[in-house]
Amino acid sequence: MSNNLEHELLDDNKASFRNYTAPQVSETVDTVREFYRLNHLHQTHDFVIAKKVELLAFNRQTMTPWAALDYLNTLVDDSDPDIALPQIDHLIQTAEAMRADGQPDWMVLTGFIHDLGKVLCLFGEPQWAVVGDTFPTGCAYSSKIVYSEFFATNPDSQRPYLQSKYGVYAPNCGLDAVQMSWGHDEYLYHLLRDHLPQEALYMIRYHSFYAWHREGEYDHLCNAQDRAMLPWVQKFNPYDLYSKNPNRPTLAVVKPYYEDLLAKYLPANLQF
Ligand SMILES: [Fe+2]
Ligand SMILES: [Fe+2]
Repeated sequence: MSNNLEHELLDDNKASFRNYTAPQVSETVDTVREFYRLNHLHQTHDFVIAKKVELLAFNRQTMTPWAALDYLNTLVDDSDPDIALPQIDHLIQTAEAMRADGQPDWMVLTGFIHDLGKVLCLFGEPQWAVVGDTFPTGCAYSSKIVYSEFFATNPDSQRPYLQSKYGVYAPNCGLDAVQMSWGHDEYLYHLLRDHLPQEALYMIRYHSFYAWHREGEYDHLCNAQDRAMLPWVQKFNPYDLYSKNPNRPTLAVVKPYYEDLLAKYLPANLQF
């Protein structure tokens, strides 16, 4: 079956993805629900700022991109109701669906590496500080954020100055100025910001910001650049979401193509 056909078949079945209540996956749902309970409890504005100081120092480890991808093979994402297969398979599927659709090579590469920031788990970070949907901290929580009821337990909910519409931000300050909840998206953006086009960097940095790219929330914090880049983030999303297909393309077959692509855009070693 070609990737295009797989993609069309999967598109017919969109409603079955990101379903957080399906009874047939109740065990998975419990894991996801517990994940978001912890995420929404602990991801305060101060936590995000502290994690940036700590982890954007990039003083942990030097690895080739392939070594980081190898590590991802050992990780199962607790926030994801759709997959229990190794991350590398998800990355190959995302990128191969883009490649089959004739997307530009920088976008195919972005598909291939977009979850590489999950190596944070390798440094001992808990999953609630690595994966899951992201959201702005330091201002009011949108009710469109998944499991938003759990924000009642976040200490920031008791700080009125962090709960107004704009919170600590100026109107239309731009997302770059917004302290998003901490995770693999923001981390990888900073790691790769000198190496990829702006469209790719938006895809990486905001691919888990569903309240924005799917629900249309938080436009009041966006500037003209964010609005111009939003369609690219939206273009990325179906590949991330609907290519979580249990049929796996093999790494051995596609590896030479991605070796060339990695060499074209990224340095041989990355400083994590
Ligand atoms: Fe991701
Ligand atoms: Fe992904």
